[in-house]
Amino acid sequence: MQRILILFAHPAFEKSRVNQRLAAAVQSLDGVTFHDLYEAYPEFDVDIRHEQALLEDHDLVVLQHPFFWYSVPPLLKQWIDLVLEHGWAYGSGGTALAGKRVLSAISTGGREEAYRHGGHNRFTIGELLAPIEQTFVLCGMKYLPPFVVHGAHGMSSGEIEEHAERYRRTIQALRDEGSESAEDAL
Ligand SMILES: Cc1cc2nc3c(=O)[nH]c(=O)nc-3n(C[C@H](O)[C@H](O)[C@H](O)COP(=O)(O)O)c2cc1C
Repeated sequence: MQRILILFAHPAFEKSRVNQRLAAAVQSLDGVTFHDLYEAYPEFDVDIRHEQALLEDHDLVVLQHPFFWYSVPPLLKQWIDLVLEHGWAYGSGGTALAGKRVLSAISTGGREEAYRHGGHNRFTIGELLAPIEQTFVLCGMKYLPPFVVHGAHGMSSGEIEEHAERYRRTIQALRDEGSESAEDAL
């Protein structure tokens, strides 16, 4: 079983419709550690050693957040800036994260058709996430295809539930992947 760390970053959790439901669908799954960054660090005083120990204890890291200005919310950026230290995450001797995997799990206000060449946002989600992908690839991690919920604003509760269920299945499959391949090898 893969150990999964969900780094959850939403600056207004009480106002969230989509991420609240997604979080509820996965936070008590076996093998999943759910870590709410805004709850842990309301003053942005990220505990670097604690975060590094958490990363060392898990195989797969999920960055779950609403898409803000084509990027991550500010506390997650602060987390990246502080936790992924030279000599630990990358650079000379920086191999702590090598071989682990990372998944972006995001919600967007924009609809899927807006995230196309020639569309309202001009670029695909994959292209817009390239700086995040490259950040973790530089740390020797494998960046998985993102889990995306598009069109968050006009979404009905029923549609949100469907995405929450899809998220739960995705996380469970990623968690169980390692053990399945281990079973195949027997
Ligand atoms: C400061 C801010 C920036 C945002 N930037 C984007 C954006 O770049 N692209 C987009 O599609 N939606 C953007 N949105 C919309 C959010 O992604 C959307 O409200 C969120 O995914 C809904 O999830 P929630 O119900 O969990 O809050 C932005 C919202 C805020 C408040």
